[in-house]
Amino acid sequence: MAAESDANDDGIESDEPTPVGVKLGSTRTVLTYPDGNGGVHAERSLTCLATYEDAITGDEKALFGERAAAEYPDCVEYMLRSGLPEDDERAALADRYFRELLSANGVPEESAVVYAVPTMENDEGLENLTDVIESSPIGAAGMRSYPESLCGAIPALGDGVEAVDEVFLAVNMGSTNLEASAYRRGDQLVPFSTGSVTGNDVDRRIVANVEEETQGRVHVDLTTAREYKEEHGDFESFEPFSDVVQQPGGGSHEFTIEDGVQDALNWYLDAAVDAVANEFLPDLANDFMKPYQLALANPIALTGGMACIPGMTGEFERRLSAELDREVAVVSPDEPDLAAAEGAHRIAERLAGR
Ligand SMILES: Nc1ncnc2c1ncn2[C@@H]1O[C@H](COP(=O)(O)OP(=O)(O)OP(=O)(O)O)[C@@H](O)[C@H]1O
Ligand SMILES: [Mg+2]
Repeated sequence: MAAESDANDDGIESDEPTPVGVKLGSTRTVLTYPDGNGGVHAERSLTCLATYEDAITGDEKALFGERAAAEYPDCVEYMLRSGLPEDDERAALADRYFRELLSANGVPEESAVVYAVPTMENDEGLENLTDVIESSPIGAAGMRSYPESLCGAIPALGDGVEAVDEVFLAVNMGSTNLEASAYRRGDQLVPFSTGSVTGNDVDRRIVANVEEETQGRVHVDLTTAREYKEEHGDFESFEPFSDVVQQPGGGSHEFTIEDGVQDALNWYLDAAVDAVANEFLPDLANDFMKPYQLALANPIALTGGMACIPGMTGEFERRLSAELDREVAVVSPDEPDLAAAEGAHRIAERLAGR
């Protein structure tokens, strides 16, 4: 690599390292870096890897993301399925996945990297994730980790990194956990996370609801359920939709889903509001009464993929206000599923001296 006169991605001759944001998620990983036109590129990739043997050389090769999922559905590995790399084998797969993703995107070694890390009570998993991060080829100019819900709140609460100077609440709605925290000037107070209110639970419920609504005639898999949720879930204007399945004995069967998707989402939202109002907030009030009052007077940042569902933010605000018997405001960034990596990128820009 020619190190001296590297033009950086903005086309300016510079010795400044490239700022990079990373969110390694159980379903999707998001990588953010300068797009070369003064903006930021966000690369979304399914967090999965498939290996195969090169037909000519016999070498083992790896394929990652959407292509791995589409071409090798039989053996693709989602190594962060539970949110963190559970064991050495999955840590090694995560390491390989991340290297493939970085090299496909040409992320330079001379970079300042900020990782958005989930809040979970799983020390071994967190240690494994730290190993993956520390052994990665990027971040020669600096590496830091911040909680995922803090990173996600940054684009929800301003155009810069204003959130880091405030006292506020953040809730992140992921596929394997629901995370809530209070932040006081970047410091995480009373981190809370639960694995019982998740995007994956919604998918499982949709599978069961579809079976019930079709009197047992239609059984969809979890991927299809997730697609139904992502395409048709809507708290503002949900419409019944139809789909067709091939039947084992030949022929096809068309069916309509009236309530199956929205019922699952209503369960999710009520459970999320209940966890925040009746589990997380009482603990916070107990330990930090004044910051609790200050934070509730500010908008709550709602992020994560599940916050992409149209109307989720407004409905969360309405139901949480009702549950707490006081008006609270809830805001989401424009792209809640990319927000953690975007926020991480903004912190990385500061670290890189921009
Ligand atoms: N555009 C969308 N519309 C609806 N739901 C979405 C959308 N994008 C993602 N989701 C859902 O959000 C969840 C994934 O959220 P996110 O990407 O924040 O999770 P993750 O970080 O990969 O998971 P975790 O935080 O549990 O490790 C999944 O259940 C997914 O189906
Ligand atoms: Mg996440």
